[in-house]
Amino acid sequence: MTKKQILVTGAAGYIWSHGVVAFEQASYKTVLVDNFSNSWDVNLHGITQILWYTPDFHELDLRDKSALVNLFKNYDFDWVIHFAGLKSVWESCLNPSLYFDNNIVGSICLFECMEKFWVKNIVFSSSATVYDSNNSLPFHEDHSVWNTNNPYGTSKFICEKLLQDMAQYNGCNVVNLRYFNPIWSHKSGLIWEYCDTHPNNLLPYIMKVAWGELNKLQVFWNDYDTIDGSGVRDYIDVNDLMDGHLKWYQQCQWQDGFFETYNLWVGKWVSVLEFITATHQSIWKDIAYDVTVRRPGDTAEVYCDPTKAQQKLNWKTHISLSESIQTSWKYYQYTQLWNK
Ligand code: NAD
Ligand code: WQD
Repeated sequence: MTKKQILVTGAAGYIWSHGVVAFEQASYKTVLVDNFSNSWDVNLHGITQILWYTPDFHELDLRDKSALVNLFKNYDFDWVIHFAGLKSVWESCLNPSLYFDNNIVGSICLFECMEKFWVKNIVFSSSATVYDSNNSLPFHEDHSVWNTNNPYGTSKFICEKLLQDMAQYNGCNVVNLRYFNPIWSHKSGLIWEYCDTHPNNLLPYIMKVAWGELNKLQVFWNDYDTIDGSGVRDYIDVNDLMDGHLKWYQQCQWQDGFFETYNLWVGKWVSVLEFITATHQSIWKDIAYDVTVRRPGDTAEVYCDPTKAQQKLNWKTHISLSESIQTSWKYYQYTQLWNK
């Protein structure tokens, strides 16, 4: 009896290039799909160097329905782990239709193939951007999720609703994971977050300033109603995040029509200025910065309550922010010297 396969969409991306390594090392069989719209094959080479083999990989766009049908014909998928999607809040504000087409139409093509080939189980990478920002913090899984404040969050919310209907009317089993700020990368330094010229996120920018590639960090606003006026987030180490996915996969007891949402978070939050201080205390690098205007789509504070995942999945994060910064810095230097 051949081992059933797990289809991983967006597998060359930042988060699931780590997830592929974690699942393969736990002896699960993954089949990888990506269109390289926000990644490149370096992460696939990194996966091969770490695993000493390459899982099946198919370069395709989820919106290419015929290619997706052919893929499903050639495998016996037991699960889909759906991570393919564009993820930049500010970019979605500049180009909403790109996000609706890529994230929603691409997901619909995938969901239709699941229905056609009787693939019932799916993990969906959702986001804290689905929460109505009027909710009291920290966000809980049962907080209202319709009044999104950017097109990216809208695309994730709509996919969640489609999956709820697939659970109710098609008997699908859905695990809906909401998180927000994964940081760090694989300890090998062989897989990390794609950023061609300008990274999206805070930590890659801080690493560039620490390395001397950038003179200063731009702090997007310091007049929010927060502890020190700068944006507040809960940063989760991507390796803890993948541990949460594995824990859930190994423990989930399915019954048809299952739809469960979990917040995968640390439960500790820091401001941008506190992150800068933590960087100095962790790697003894001063991060010079200028305060600039707000970035489109930014919100003052985003953090969630992780209690449900901690209790139901017996999962807790264990990598501190300081450890994430230290190991990020250690491997950032390695990747810069390696790329010379
Ligand atoms: P990423 O951009 O590194 O990875 C996404 C991958 O999907 C990329 O490799 C991209 O090329 C691929 N992709 C995008 N559209 C595709 C399409 N139409 N067909 C095939 N492949 C496609 O992003 P990530 O940080 O790894 O995030 C993965 C998922 O997790 C995304 O859906 C994102 O919305 C979600 N998420 C990310 C964060 C975060 O802060 N990184 C937080 C919460 C949720
Ligand atoms: C963190 C904080 C910025 C860069 C995340 C994911 C994104 C999406 C939404 C989720 C904010 C500040 C940043 C800089 C700064 N995915 N900042 N200067 O905005 O929380 O978005 O959640 O589904 O993919 O990244 O993350 O790292 O961009 O910003 O001041 O140069 O740092 O304003 O307060 P964000 P981020």
